[in-house]
Amino acid sequence: MITTKLENARKFLTEEELAGGMKKAEDAYHLVAGESGVGSEWLGWRHILASPNDALLEEISRHANSIRQDADVFIVCGIGGSYTGAMALIKALNPVFKNNGPEIIFAGHQMSGRYLKELIEHLETAKEDGGRKSVYLNVISKSGSTLETALAFRVLRNWMHNRFEDASKRINATTGPAGGVLNDIVAEEDYKKYVIPDDAGGRFSVLTPVGLLPLAVAGIDIQTLFYGAVSQFEELEVNRNDLLGYAAARYALHEKGYAVDVIGSFEPDLLGFTAWIQQLIGESEGKDGKGLYPALAAYSTDLHSVGQLIQDGPRNIMETLLVVEKPISDMAVPDSGSDDTDQLGYLAGKTFHEINKSALEGTVEAHTSGGVPVISIHIEKLNARQLGELIYFYELFTAVYVYMLGVNPFNQPGVEAYKKAMYRLLGKN
Ligand code: PA5
Repeated sequence: MITTKLENARKFLTEEELAGGMKKAEDAYHLVAGESGVGSEWLGWRHILASPNDALLEEISRHANSIRQDADVFIVCGIGGSYTGAMALIKALNPVFKNNGPEIIFAGHQMSGRYLKELIEHLETAKEDGGRKSVYLNVISKSGSTLETALAFRVLRNWMHNRFEDASKRINATTGPAGGVLNDIVAEEDYKKYVIPDDAGGRFSVLTPVGLLPLAVAGIDIQTLFYGAVSQFEELEVNRNDLLGYAAARYALHEKGYAVDVIGSFEPDLLGFTAWIQQLIGESEGKDGKGLYPALAAYSTDLHSVGQLIQDGPRNIMETLLVVEKPISDMAVPDSGSDDTDQLGYLAGKTFHEINKSALEGTVEAHTSGGVPVISIHIEKLNARQLGELIYFYELFTAVYVYMLGVNPFNQPGVEAYKKAMYRLLGKN
């Protein structure tokens, strides 16, 4: 279950501002639900939850299991919405220092030659038993033409075809239904293909094969994740006051001139998830001179860094904190008996989660009294079901909030500007 706490933001807003925001949030919700807003042809992320495709979930799980049985390394090649979701959930749910199945490596999310060179060296390094690594590659690109992904895919698939006789069976593509060079390559090489529905944009696609195949290969229970999202979809169809209140408060702060939303968590496992939210909200809301810049903070680490600026810098910063009530696991501070040289005896027996919670509460108190409105979003436990719920919560929140700004949540016209300039410099026709 997801709960939102707004009291530390409310004190920065008047009743009228909040009520005005709430009215706008309700209207915006009806644009989403009634499919009558600008860009409503991009609501596939809702349709997949309204009518779940169990056969597809089953097919992906089966395919992922066969990869898990044979692969030492699984490469996910994609950028933006084509990789942030999988990266976020794998970081959140998988063990910190070991793999739960094949090693998952991301590529195609930047253009570092060094990264690709060292990746290939890593793939070529023999296993401990002297054998060759078994490698699988999943390229994910809805357009099929994104340069970062296409370049990495060119390098990696060349390597795969030189290395493995059955490379065509080891490479699969997740792309749009038709058109684009990636579809041409898939047809030519007979790679297995998963379809990204036409009506689901990249950053809203984590619950399509874009996220589901890498997650299933990483050992995450995609049925539980997906049905967590379905249950949140059903819940928010009838009970959405918390979500609308959150949208109302963020909107009212935006209208008051707040410029930055620091999205943070004291739970290191959720830092990938905050990056997913950053990509989802940032690419959706930043249009026509509108939007809050979604910055990220990794707490408590960043209290020793940008924490200073948040506490004491320009007063146009708000903060959103993701809070987990129960961690996946925990440990207590050891008792050192009569030796209290490190002067930490007063914490003996307390768990790290309890101490982290005090840091969270102390930070909320300090930031609020320093002039930073704080909104917190709470989940009980870190597991596939609750993260599925949180994914849909944030997808719907983003659509509602961005409609409140009066812009299309589902396009990204601004990203064309750098591409145009880059392609001109690279001499592309
Ligand atoms: O949300 C989006 O649409 C973008 O972030 C895309 O996911 C990103 O640009 C990658 O695009 P593509 O999947 O076409 O390679």
